Amino acid sequence: MLFLQPQFYRRFMNNEIARRRTFAIVAHPDAGKTSLTEKLLLFGGQIQVAGAVKSNKIRKTATSDWMDIEKQRGISVTTSVLEFDYHDYKINILDTPGHQDFAEDTYRTLTAVDSVIIVIDAAKGVEAQTLKLMEVCRMRNTPVIIFVNKMDREGKDPFDLLDELEEQLEISVRPLSWPIDMGQRFKGVYNIYEQKLNLFQPSKQVVTEKVEVDINTQELEQHIGDKQAEQLRNDLELISGVYPAFDREQYLAGKLAPVFFGSALNNFGVQELLDCFVEIAPCPRPVLATEREVNPEEPKFTGFVFKITANIDPNHRSCIAFCKVCSGKFERNTPYYHVRHDKTMRFTSPVQFMAQRKSTVDEAWAGDIIGLPDNGIFKIGDTLTEGEHLHFRGLPSFSPEMFKYIENADPMKQKQLAKGIDQLMDEGVAQLFVNQFNGRKIIGTVGQLQFEVIQYRLLNEYNASCCWEPVHLYKACWIESDDEAELQDFMKRKYQYMAKDREGRDVYLADSSYVLSMAQQDFKHIRFHFTSEF
Ligand code: G4P
Repeated sequence: MLFLQPQFYRRFMNNEIARRRTFAIVAHPDAGKTSLTEKLLLFGGQIQVAGAVKSNKIRKTATSDWMDIEKQRGISVTTSVLEFDYHDYKINILDTPGHQDFAEDTYRTLTAVDSVIIVIDAAKGVEAQTLKLMEVCRMRNTPVIIFVNKMDREGKDPFDLLDELEEQLEISVRPLSWPIDMGQRFKGVYNIYEQKLNLFQPSKQVVTEKVEVDINTQELEQHIGDKQAEQLRNDLELISGVYPAFDREQYLAGKLAPVFFGSALNNFGVQELLDCFVEIAPCPRPVLATEREVNPEEPKFTGFVFKITANIDPNHRSCIAFCKVCSGKFERNTPYYHVRHDKTMRFTSPVQFMAQRKSTVDEAWAGDIIGLPDNGIFKIGDTLTEGEHLHFRGLPSFSPEMFKYIENADPMKQKQLAKGIDQLMDEGVAQLFVNQFNGRKIIGTVGQLQFEVIQYRLLNEYNASCCWEPVHLYKACWIESDDEAELQDFMKRKYQYMAKDREGRDVYLADSSYVLSMAQQDFKHIRFHFTSEF
């Protein structure tokens, strides 16, 4: 880059940061996340034809085809980043695993985004995973836009859906586009934000026709017919009566979710979503560290690792640590301070990600995600700075849903196993608890698949074999109390179920919901937390 006078440099930097939109698209499986991502890439010129990326197949192309297990199972395990320019904006989409068993990965990825698009299936409405994802967004007041997908199919009544979204996701909603009927009778959407009518033509590639119509004239009837014109006018009247005008500040505060309707598969309503998104969505926001709030415009580089992926190249056991740049500018080959290790390091080959490839990056600005080659130096949550002692706060771990004892299956490989478990836990693949009664290691996961991934990776990357033994547990609860005597009494009585997490915190492993609720009743001063940060 050319040398710029400080005041020009500052302006240049602020422009760079202001044009960035770093976000994730999340959904309950099958709602249409992949289809929507694909259409966004199409608009970004990253792929030439629709259908190139389909139903999680995006991750079967070179960029993210990183783990053998992925190939075997056709399930995307890793998270990647898709970057492209759209008009004056730089878009960074953080792709999240399609499979529910890797939900924890998705939650962690949400720590690195500035906003989120949630995709909802119009027929199914709010589903289990949608609730959990929204809970995570609420924890950080992440601004959320909702895209109601599959309008070309019969679905729920849009007003009922809005009520459902508001009630179940515990957020105010405001439609910014409105569907004209659905399924076979689907005519299109009225773009409330731009006040334009968008007529539906089922097509995966053609960008649909937009017509400017004064909805109070007969022109509307000519386009969509008498009955639907009347219905649309009534609906719009009801909307403006019931929902206050869209308030961007409320959206940015995470209190109001604008809602769009469309069909990702047919590429319908997607450009409207994207155009409105780049306009209203936040540019990189301040990030909270334990010590202070860090502003993206600060000149000095800071960043944190939110995700570590395994084995991009199966021949070398190297991982990539995904680092979100929180402030300033990251430059290749520049010494940065790794706070946890209290060491300065330089990175000679950081990478950035395009839809189908990755390339070496020389510089990155706040809001960007860079991939740092990692041979065991990083742990989720690690902070990099230009020397300041900062600790960015990660996302708390949720209580796992499944638990198993992990045992060594090859006595000659004890060391390899210990190292493997340690590194996999650093990557955040699962959670490790050590039972205080018998010293056995318990692995907790969100889904069955993670046990298989761990076993596979221990063998392939660490040459260690493990086997699993059942342990019947219901939840992990991080416990605390102001009444030390009661806490000690509790731990004594429950000694068989007490464990330590990797940070040495006390965790009660309840074996059933009944036992847990009894414990909560009997030990009134003990607080039982289902996440590791409280
Ligand atoms: P996901 O990433 O959220 O899991 O969803 P994905 O986009 O893979 O979509 C899940 C299924 O829903 C796919 O069908 C996809 O074609 C379909 N779909 C997505 N958007 C729409 C839409 O707007 N309208 C309709 N009618 N269907 C939609 P599939 O049969 O599972 O896969 P495929 O054979 O179509 O690839």
